Amino acid sequence: MRAASVSDFRELARRRLPHIFFEYIDGGSYAEETLRRNVADLEAIALRQRVMRDMSKLDMGVESLGQAFAMPVGLAPVGMAGMYARRGETQAARAAAEAGLPFCLSAMGVCDAAEVAATGAPPWFQLYMLKDRGYMQALLGRAKALGCPVLVFTVDLPTPGARYRDVRSGFTGSSGVSGAVNQALDGLAHPAWMWDVWAHGRPHSLGSVAGALTQQGRRVTDFLGWVARNFDRSVTWADLDWVRQNWDGPIVIKGVLDVEDAREAVRCGAQGLVVSNHGGRQLDGVRSSISALPRIAQAVGGDLEVYMDGGIRSGLDVLKALALGAKACFVGRAWAWALGAGGEKGVAQMLATLRSELAVAMILTGCTKLGDAGADLLDLD
Ligand code: FNR
Repeated sequence: MRAASVSDFRELARRRLPHIFFEYIDGGSYAEETLRRNVADLEAIALRQRVMRDMSKLDMGVESLGQAFAMPVGLAPVGMAGMYARRGETQAARAAAEAGLPFCLSAMGVCDAAEVAATGAPPWFQLYMLKDRGYMQALLGRAKALGCPVLVFTVDLPTPGARYRDVRSGFTGSSGVSGAVNQALDGLAHPAWMWDVWAHGRPHSLGSVAGALTQQGRRVTDFLGWVARNFDRSVTWADLDWVRQNWDGPIVIKGVLDVEDAREAVRCGAQGLVVSNHGGRQLDGVRSSISALPRIAQAVGGDLEVYMDGGIRSGLDVLKALALGAKACFVGRAWAWALGAGGEKGVAQMLATLRSELAVAMILTGCTKLGDAGADLLDLD
């Protein structure tokens, strides 16, 4: 099958990846209500068709945090991408750079910032608050020295939400011989992945945090246990001062759904925030990102950059988010699926698909310049 849409990349990833990794990407927390809402609420928004306008010139570029991007789309931080394709973070970063878009490296990436920066484009760098502040400080220092332009500080994961699919697939909670055997059989059933990732994509550790591990096991699932134990639940807005002291570039707070929290982000001196519920992977039952966006954009859009993620599956979705106040959108699963389906080429194709869909949406809503996108592009009756 040739992928024509983001959902096609999902299907190709389902076929190519071991079940545990496909389910890890695809799933959400608990009953997955919020995961569904993210997509359904975007689907329910109607664009307003306008015709017979001169749409021969489109301005799809956007400037944000001192950088110019070819379109208002970035690659959200996604953990363990190096398990979906060989050194996956570097492949995705190359595809993003080639398309003129930002790639945000997850703190839980298989590749570390140095490996990604060696592709020629230092990534945006995402971090959680870890209990070991000394280790965090060192990570921030390294990212800065590598030229990472933006720190994305994720605030909606003081503790991981329960993801039932990961338990059922054996990704989390299974240990000992039977867990290892199941994972081995899962891999063997996907020979293309075995060749690409298992045989040629080593080391399979989490690059940024591997150095903080002591006598832990070596499997990726072991690292996840460490992560769960080392995230800091005591974190408050006051801790952002500490982050600020250790990072002099722009800071983007990721994981805000509430107007009061958005105001806190402004008060703390952040340059941007991402309206996000972690792709429906944390607190299930919270509202969709797209439904939270307009009030947050209205409240703080004049003070910092308001981005959003969650449920973006097409270029049409991007235009809807921009019309509701986002400066740009980030995609998570869309690029993870594309990477699993076809590596760098897959991500490049997926981004080209989003771009052409966005262009069509602009042409048929009469939007020549994305910087001017507003609620008049929507049919709100
Ligand atoms: C994520 N997300 C995420 N966020 C983050 O700040 N750090 C991380 O390490 C990860 N890891 C991660 C892994 C996987 C497999 C997924 C799907 C997501 C959340 C991600 O950045 C983003 O908020 C959501 O993916 C956006 O929703 P969509 O685009 O996947 O619907």
